[in-house]
Amino acid sequence: MIELMDVRKVFNAGSPSEYSAINGVSLHIPENKVTVLKGPSGSGKTTLLSIVGCMSRPSAGRVKLRDREITSLPERFLTDIRRKTFGFIFQQPNLIKGLSVLENVMLPAYPLGEKRSQLKLKAHNGLQELNLANKAASKVEWLSGGEVQRVSIVRALINDPHIIIADEPTAHLDTKLSHRFMEIIENFKAHGKTVIITSHDYRRSALLPTLERYLVSCLGPLYS
Ligand SMILES: Nc1ncnc2c1ncn2[C@@H]1O[C@H](COP(=O)(O)OP(=O)(O)OP(=O)(O)O)[C@@H](O)[C@H]1O
Ligand SMILES: [Mg+2]
Repeated sequence: MIELMDVRKVFNAGSPSEYSAINGVSLHIPENKVTVLKGPSGSGKTTLLSIVGCMSRPSAGRVKLRDREITSLPERFLTDIRRKTFGFIFQQPNLIKGLSVLENVMLPAYPLGEKRSQLKLKAHNGLQELNLANKAASKVEWLSGGEVQRVSIVRALINDPHIIIADEPTAHLDTKLSHRFMEIIENFKAHGKTVIITSHDYRRSALLPTLERYLVSCLGPLYS
């Protein structure tokens, strides 16, 4: 489904702070599977996800999505692909302050023009699934770290994306909620979705016992 060919990413190229975060990663991410990218902190997992999710471009190499080369597409096409294909659970969720939990969750769906009443219902159901029903009207700045992470999970799923990209999604969750998240992920897979998760914490990725695991070792040394 997603093919990376000799992908490199250099930050601040040509300046004294030039830093090569990814050095020639080639990788196939299969459809309808859960792929776990493991690697130590700083090994380039978030950088790689941002390239896979069309949020940044590689400095070199090529990326294909469903056999379509996307590396050099103009920005407006990338935005469109991003919106319609991916749901992002970011490591730093950057929810919009001043807006309620419900409004934050609904936000990514506005450009796609779904009926507001339908959207609201979907958002409420999503919040309920992650024990957040009573927080729908709260401002996001009042939430705890784990609540922020759960809101960002609900937000990522609002457009029913084909591909879910989750960057350390359980880092701030307790064991029970982590298991709930993993159930949601399993459910995605059962519905034919593709999931890409990162984890620098070996014990956390061991939380995925029932999932097929594709552990990718190209991002620096593995813990196991
Ligand atoms: N915009 C940037 N400018 C300069 N360096 C960057 C930039 N973004 C990331 N880096 C560097 O690239 C390296 C990889 O960062 P990245 O965030 O991809 O790591 P990671 O594997 O996700 O780490 P973690 O497990 O801590 O989240 C890091 O050393 C980071 O400092
Ligand atoms: Mg990261």
